Amino acid sequence: ALVNTEKMLNDAKLNGYAVGAFNIHNLETLKAVVKAAFEMNSPLILQTTPGTIKHAGEDYIAAIAKVASEKYDIPIALHLDHGNSFDIVVRCLRVGYTSAMFDGSMLPYEQNVAATKKVVEIAHAAGVTVEAELGNIVGVEDDMYVNEDANAFTDPKMAVDFVEKTGVDSLAIAIGTAHGLYKGEVRLDFDRLKEIRSLIDIPLVLHGASGVPDDLVRKAIELGINKLNIATELKIPFANAIKEVFENNPSESDPRKYLAPGEKSVEEVVKEKIKLFGCGGKA
Ligand code: 13P
Ligand code: ZN
Ligand code: NA
Repeated sequence: ALVNTEKMLNDAKLNGYAVGAFNIHNLETLKAVVKAAFEMNSPLILQTTPGTIKHAGEDYIAAIAKVASEKYDIPIALHLDHGNSFDIVVRCLRVGYTSAMFDGSMLPYEQNVAATKKVVEIAHAAGVTVEAELGNIVGVEDDMYVNEDANAFTDPKMAVDFVEKTGVDSLAIAIGTAHGLYKGEVRLDFDRLKEIRSLIDIPLVLHGASGVPDDLVRKAIELGINKLNIATELKIPFANAIKEVFENNPSESDPRKYLAPGEKSVEEVVKEKIKLFGCGGKA
């Protein structure tokens, strides 16, 4: 059965590694991620944004995720990524998501606290863990676009207050990562991460991990990040592998043939990320 993220993220926090949270969009990408995690004996967070739910349907996604969790003997959580309303959280709870992010980071602080708290109450009643976000992660994710000059960094003292008031299980912080790939050099505010880690007891989450150089990812984990979100670095190889099929054989029309290379390429990236995050062998 699917599990929530409580044990897997707290184990990661206790033992100094991070669990990979991979954005999936369809059966092929889900199978690729699950197979990679199983072969690496890693705990796994499958996640979908509201945009993916609109595309595929939360009921279909929950059904295939449940099948995966029964087929493979590793802890698998199904997580709503960047949930943007109370409604979408409830819809996910109803079909069996085991974890949810409520992203109120664009709201004024007190409204973010109030809305997150309401989500925590209903989610906890259903045994579902909640991630929230404080500070803005810039860049594009689905229909969500956050300008670079948004208040991009999480204030450590505000984070303490936020965690106390809302009762969230994990917190996504903004220390300089962005959704998508990066134009220039990636610079992360490690002093801020250190300070937040020293003040807060719950697992910390880093969004926008695609495109962050490996040494910076390692450093972020060493300083206390326990969940890393990867979307773009799966989407690009999936698309590229499929494009290659059509370049070589423009008349290919068998979905099994043109999707299989995409699936394989996602599987390979996920294995590399699991190695980097240190969650291999921790299932
Ligand atoms: P990337 O697309 O940069 O991997 O960001 C993923 C993410 O944060 C999903 O919530
Ligand atoms: Zn994100
Ligand atoms: Na990124």
